[in-house]
Amino acid sequence: MSITVVGNTTNSEVYIATNERKFIINEYLIIEDNDNDEPIVEIIETNSFNKFVPLASEKAGIMEDTVKQNLSSYGYDLDDETINLAKVRVVGELSKPITVGSTVRLPKFNEVKHLLMKKKPNKGLTLGVIRGTSEMQDSLPNDVSNIAMLYKDDIGVLDQEGVPFVFDYYKTAQYPHMLVTGGSGSGKSYGTRVLLEEKMQKKIPMIVFDPHYEMDFSETFEGLPVNYQYDYKRHYEIAYVGRDVGVDFTELSKEELSSLLSSAKNMTSTMETTLAVVLEKRDTLTSFQTKLNNLMEIYQDGTGEYEVRRSEGDKVATKALELYNRTKRELGTATLMALSGIGWRLENIKATGIFNCNIDSIHNAILKRKTIIIRSNIRLLKTFAGFIINNLYKKRRKYIDSQNTLTQEQIKQLNIEKFPPFEVVIDESHNFAPKTIEGENMTPTKWIIREISAEGRKYGINLVLVTQRPSNLDTTTLANVNTKFIYRTNNSYDLATISEETDLTGAELDRLKYFQSGNCFISSAIQGRSLALTTRVSKTQSPHFKNPYDELDEFGENNDKLKEVLKKYLPLSDMNLANYHMDINNEVKKTIPSKEIFETLEEMYRSGEIDIKDSPLGKQYVEK
Ligand SMILES: Nc1ncnc2c1ncn2[C@@H]1O[C@H](COP(=O)(O)OP(=O)(O)OP(=O)(O)O)[C@@H](O)[C@H]1O
Ligand SMILES: [Mg+2]
Repeated sequence: MSITVVGNTTNSEVYIATNERKFIINEYLIIEDNDNDEPIVEIIETNSFNKFVPLASEKAGIMEDTVKQNLSSYGYDLDDETINLAKVRVVGELSKPITVGSTVRLPKFNEVKHLLMKKKPNKGLTLGVIRGTSEMQDSLPNDVSNIAMLYKDDIGVLDQEGVPFVFDYYKTAQYPHMLVTGGSGSGKSYGTRVLLEEKMQKKIPMIVFDPHYEMDFSETFEGLPVNYQYDYKRHYEIAYVGRDVGVDFTELSKEELSSLLSSAKNMTSTMETTLAVVLEKRDTLTSFQTKLNNLMEIYQDGTGEYEVRRSEGDKVATKALELYNRTKRELGTATLMALSGIGWRLENIKATGIFNCNIDSIHNAILKRKTIIIRSNIRLLKTFAGFIINNLYKKRRKYIDSQNTLTQEQIKQLNIEKFPPFEVVIDESHNFAPKTIEGENMTPTKWIIREISAEGRKYGINLVLVTQRPSNLDTTTLANVNTKFIYRTNNSYDLATISEETDLTGAELDRLKYFQSGNCFISSAIQGRSLALTTRVSKTQSPHFKNPYDELDEFGENNDKLKEVLKKYLPLSDMNLANYHMDINNEVKKTIPSKEIFETLEEMYRSGEIDIKDSPLGKQYVEK
């Protein structure tokens, strides 16, 4: 007996049964119902029954009475055999209800191609394999039969099995922004790597904020066949904040400077007000610091000396006294503390090297259609990101607006630079654009992410937001994301958010909890309806991707080497490590995650090799 339609519920969902094989969730089938032009259906629920698991049991949840009756009228014998039952959903529209009793068969690729593969791989991003399509592998044309190889932890790289998923990225022009989400270890980073690989191959310029130092594409994935390998080196650059990229102090707005300073430690509201009074339009780092220092001197030692200097015509002293009177009038007694608070925060940020660099390398990379990966500790990165994104956004906006409103002659005269569309990729994005808490001020970074989520489409700027916690992400931003890759998650808050923001059904959300790493749903306005996907094998791997138990073997001898090197770079802290991280890696000849560096420093402290100094900034590891 073949597969038969044994009942219908709604116009678009029917039950099918067979005693020949098990059904696979998401599998595609064709119902030979001529009245409806042989509709294509997708399996959305499956179940098996026999006399040990009777229909009356709880498992029979998906059954309805008429279906039970139909089963026996179509010749199935529940006492004697195992019956596989599935609920299927029609893909597309129907003119009439499906005829009960119709036969069901497996499709050939050509029959479902128009639904499953709307774009040719060279016109889209080949991200993986559509789940439930493995039976179609044999009917795939040669040119798409092994373009999405797979990977299994315990086996290694595997041939493609199923229909490749090719994402039509041209449509992101109308439906912008992506979210990659899922619980720990669910395959987000891996999936993001694959996404970036595909985009790099299409030469889409991207700026990637990489707080975990894991986005490096120089190492070929272990065991990858030669003909599947790809060299990404010319497509990307890595830049460290404070060493390769930074900000020009004079370009910072008050809000940006304040946010940068608060990455050292939160600013109090008095500090914010003091900053607003002291920082003036044309201030350089030096002029600003001089003002701060002079003011502190006056607050500590009185105005005497400065008054003498003013009477001699000293402009700096005149200015300092003027500011002093203003701050005293506007802020009162707390000013000295606020000034010194601003002072050491500024010193601290300065020590990262951020003011010694500019953002030219980022501009140049984007102009060359490259991907630029920005690294730093997350606190600094999340404020730096706001400055950078804003800067690039303004450049692109200026160019597009000028195209729309000015003549070519005027554009030339004003010297407006041609600037390409680009994408912004943010890992840990809930830290960059967190959900609003009542009474809290919006940081410049969150502001610009929200702005791009709403206005980016006009300018060809797309966001790719990666987060483990979608329910902690800014709600406005999330609502503007059109394509979501959803990996395994168990968190009930996140599941609730996902349920609200996608078309996933209750049953699909339940399945999500049990997804293996690397499997996800893609819910997208571009796609029309959700698809389940297995991400393809990545062509590259993170340089510090290691089984932690293999890593254990490296401890001991290499740890001594690391300790020796670390001693040379003291004092070290959360704030300045980024400056030396590359050099430290070079000296020990491998990439050490910052977490491991701090663990080693902590170990060195415990064994009395080095000391800890508690500064207002937090821990500093210093020489003994
Ligand atoms: N597409 C895939 N195919 C096979 N295995 C995969 C795939 N994606 C992920 N994995 C496996 O799952 C592991 C964890 O994936 P990944 O590092 O991407 O998780 P994550 O979601 O980023 O977790 P975290 O939130 O902790 O960073 C990988 O190291 C790999 O072994
Ligand atoms: Mg990760």
